[in-house]
Amino acid sequence: MLSTVSLVGSRDRQLEEILRTLAAQVTTVPVADLTRLALPSAVCPDVIVLDVRGGMEVPPSCAAFRRQHPDVGLVIVASTLDSALLLDAMRAGVNEVVAEPLTDESISDAVARVTANRGPTDLGKVYGFIGAKGGVGTTTVAVNMAITLGSMSKPARTLLIDFHQNGGDAAVFTGIEPRFSMLNALESTHRLDQNLLRSLVTEVAPHTDLLAAPDRSIGGPLQPESIRRLISFVAATYRYTVIDLPKSDGAVLDSLEQLAGIFLVANQELATVRSAGRVAATLRQRYGREKVTVVLSRSDRQADIGFEDVEKAVGSRVEHTFPSDYRSALQALNSGRPIALDNHNELSLSFRRFGQKLAGVKSERTAPKSVGLLGRLTQRRA
Ligand SMILES: Nc1ncnc2c1ncn2[C@@H]1O[C@H](COP(=O)(O)OP(=O)(O)OP(=O)(O)O)[C@@H](O)[C@H]1O
Ligand SMILES: [Mg+2]
Repeated sequence: MLSTVSLVGSRDRQLEEILRTLAAQVTTVPVADLTRLALPSAVCPDVIVLDVRGGMEVPPSCAAFRRQHPDVGLVIVASTLDSALLLDAMRAGVNEVVAEPLTDESISDAVARVTANRGPTDLGKVYGFIGAKGGVGTTTVAVNMAITLGSMSKPARTLLIDFHQNGGDAAVFTGIEPRFSMLNALESTHRLDQNLLRSLVTEVAPHTDLLAAPDRSIGGPLQPESIRRLISFVAATYRYTVIDLPKSDGAVLDSLEQLAGIFLVANQELATVRSAGRVAATLRQRYGREKVTVVLSRSDRQADIGFEDVEKAVGSRVEHTFPSDYRSALQALNSGRPIALDNHNELSLSFRRFGQKLAGVKSERTAPKSVGLLGRLTQRRA
């Protein structure tokens, strides 16, 4: 299935419905939006379907769009296969023209043809972080991983979602007071488009947005279907999405099929390790072994419970360890300036290393600060 299709300049609900059977997300936008989509920085759908049946000609923004985004499929829906229109469409770089009568088949064939030569849809990666117990440092890890991945994803962006209905504090960690929350996004998943999502998130760091937790809970459970729709929309929009997962929200924990990885955040305390074993078993049963891994917050090599003990109790490798640095963590929290923004201590370095792992980037080599006389004498040309 395609991830996103934009239906441009159309009021045809039936056409929209046909497209919904072909793509995870269909947005309807006015023709004027083609100008915005033609910008080099625009986040583009996989396919644009432009409806010119209201007597409209092929707009000039169509050719401008094609020049900037040669890979996006461009389909025109017309009343008849008029030769002047076909010529204009060809000049504008349109891939397909479909004429009335529109059928499920004619639309899906056209969309299939314009996407036939593309590789698998380039969906963003979504990672979830869940605490084995309260207070282990899950939000600290999620916030800092989002900011780290944001710095690696440019010019694309990273999104952090705080899915807590009660007591979510990613906003406090990032020093913002958001007007909107993930509840607004979940309420609007049937009409969510790039513009609406952009109005609900707040930029918290370069290339990093936050969709915050609400101030107050709605009092009822969230809907798994809306959660899944939101996740698939953000995956089609952002290069990376990091979710701060609430440990005791059944609806959220039941909607994580699309995640590329679920990281269970634990530490080396007995009660947390026991709980981690239980949570890991439940998540594995639901989403498969390979999706669930453990990371250790405030790791301590000297602790009574060693890394191997944690691995045994949880039944999987410890994927990464974040060192303990109470002073930096607390200062970052109180100032609303996450540690990952200041690249100067072991903890921020460990966020960076884990980010490189998730992004599949080789770790940077640290170049020697200065080369002594011996070094210069023995240096060879590559
Ligand atoms: N690596 C670390 N070293 C030292 N202290 C840390 C570290 N990570 C987090 N902390 C501190 O631990 C406390 C709890 O952190 P955080 O809010 O991230 O945990 P949490 O698991 O999200 O908690 P909750 O269950 O309330 O959501 C904070 O005071 C934070 O500063
Ligand atoms: Mg938290």
